[in-house]
Amino acid sequence: MVHPPSDDPTWWRDAVIYEVYVRSFADGDGDGTGDLAGVRSRLPYLRDLGVDALWFTPWYASPMADGGYDVADYRAIDPAFGTLAEAEALIAEALALGIRTIVDVVPNHVSDRHPWFRAALAAGPGSPERERFWFHPGTGPDGAGIPTHWESSFGGGTWTRTTNPDGTPGEWYLHLFTTQQPDLNWTHPDVWAEHEDVLRFWFDRGVAGIRIDSAALLVKDPALPELPAPGTTPAPGGHPHLDRDELHDVYRAWRKVADSYPGTRVLVGEVWLDDAERFAAYLRPDEMHTAFNFDVMAQPWDAVALRASVDRTLAAHRGVGAPATWVLSNHDVTRPVTRYGRADSSFSFAAKRAGTPTDLDLGTRRARAAALLTAALPGSLYLYQGDELGLPEVEDLPPEAVQDPMHARSGGVDPGRDGCRVPLPWSGDRPPYGFSADPPGGVPAEPWLPQPAGWAPRTVAAQEADPGSMLRLYRDALALRRSEPGLGDGDLRWLDAGPGVLAFARGDVLCVVNLSAGPVALPPHGGVLLASGPTDGAALDPDTAAWLRAA
Ligand code: GLC
Repeated sequence: MVHPPSDDPTWWRDAVIYEVYVRSFADGDGDGTGDLAGVRSRLPYLRDLGVDALWFTPWYASPMADGGYDVADYRAIDPAFGTLAEAEALIAEALALGIRTIVDVVPNHVSDRHPWFRAALAAGPGSPERERFWFHPGTGPDGAGIPTHWESSFGGGTWTRTTNPDGTPGEWYLHLFTTQQPDLNWTHPDVWAEHEDVLRFWFDRGVAGIRIDSAALLVKDPALPELPAPGTTPAPGGHPHLDRDELHDVYRAWRKVADSYPGTRVLVGEVWLDDAERFAAYLRPDEMHTAFNFDVMAQPWDAVALRASVDRTLAAHRGVGAPATWVLSNHDVTRPVTRYGRADSSFSFAAKRAGTPTDLDLGTRRARAAALLTAALPGSLYLYQGDELGLPEVEDLPPEAVQDPMHARSGGVDPGRDGCRVPLPWSGDRPPYGFSADPPGGVPAEPWLPQPAGWAPRTVAAQEADPGSMLRLYRDALALRRSEPGLGDGDLRWLDAGPGVLAFARGDVLCVVNLSAGPVALPPHGGVLLASGPTDGAALDPDTAAWLRAA
């Protein structure tokens, strides 16, 4: 079944967008690392799944100090993934199957191997080349003290000292993430011009959208003040490096670039902010189109908390006329089936709870119900590769295999994010489970992260054959979401279905989710369209969701 992209300029308002973490999706050349050839070979799978667009995590030339979020060249594909010609072919082939492409742009920082940063190091203190970054003398007589005590999102400090061309200790540079990701200076015109040109480069190649990495961090207070004291809240827009008001000018300029192209080219922001109003401000009509809504993911499996989150989200979006997005996970967070199997199933970076027990059967039932809940809510839906297979977080990776810098920078305390980045299982009963194609005349290399034994029932091939699988549930849900006019963009009407139950109407589709401890009676209805677990049509078991035809 081919779903040609409609000319509808509002396609993005209810799109289902699938996140491809290229390294781990499919390996076309058998070297153990996913690549564009692998994605191209699996496009029919994505068409059959029923997604509208693919978001590719960075596929650019990169030393991979942060899985590609350390970009050395935005206009080149990393050789491990393929070539620019392959990316162009992939974009065209996907479009021919009705699937749009969204690329990831990382404007907060570049790789320390990026030509600008190498030139800045070589040119030395006071040079124009250094003005594109945040170089700063250290404190104290010998300059050995860090300029500020800001904390890296990955743990540790945010400044690294340079060595001058003559070998003496030099200035420090700012990096909100790893040492290998120097932050750009967004007061510099070159930084603005370069990014607008990168957007054009990819729009010219037919991409339908840009995912904006760390979108609320770009602008810094040039005075580089210390962080607000713990427990105090800075004035809105007054944090030294988060959610500063000047950011909105950047996205207004980007919106102009996007709007200068035919068809709707969308800007999707990665905006981690607690304040729903400040978040929604990025979605004003002349800024981004949408942003990831992480609020639902941060909630425990609790009807009151989830309903409040949905209401908060919809209200904030309504104020700016933007559709909401629904996100259960991504390449940075613990997989839903593992999370929802824990006593506290909310996600936060501060409490990943690795090592706390999880009941994967319970987690799977809840993740299935959560899939139907989020797919029924108004707006667009993000699906991270492997969640449609119900893959669990791999929490017992051998420490020597872990590559995520979050792990090393925390001194091994933080498990890092590799547990949700394990290569996908496609077929067969042992690693690499069809992840890697056989290279000519040989056997594939080991996957870049080891896959667990016991994933045979979780492969795509096994799940395609099993009507009760997570994959079949997702396929059915996405097909219905496409065919039911009530689903997708629009509004919802809550129904009262009793404590511990979420129930709402979308046109003539009802969605009921039972988060209580016992079975609940379903409201009067005209038939079960889809359910995440067994139901006789009269009652719904705990941790189960159903889509019903309104009576
Ligand atoms: C975003 C990405 C994450 C990356 C970070 C730094 O949060 O999702 O994977 O490590 O930005 O670029």
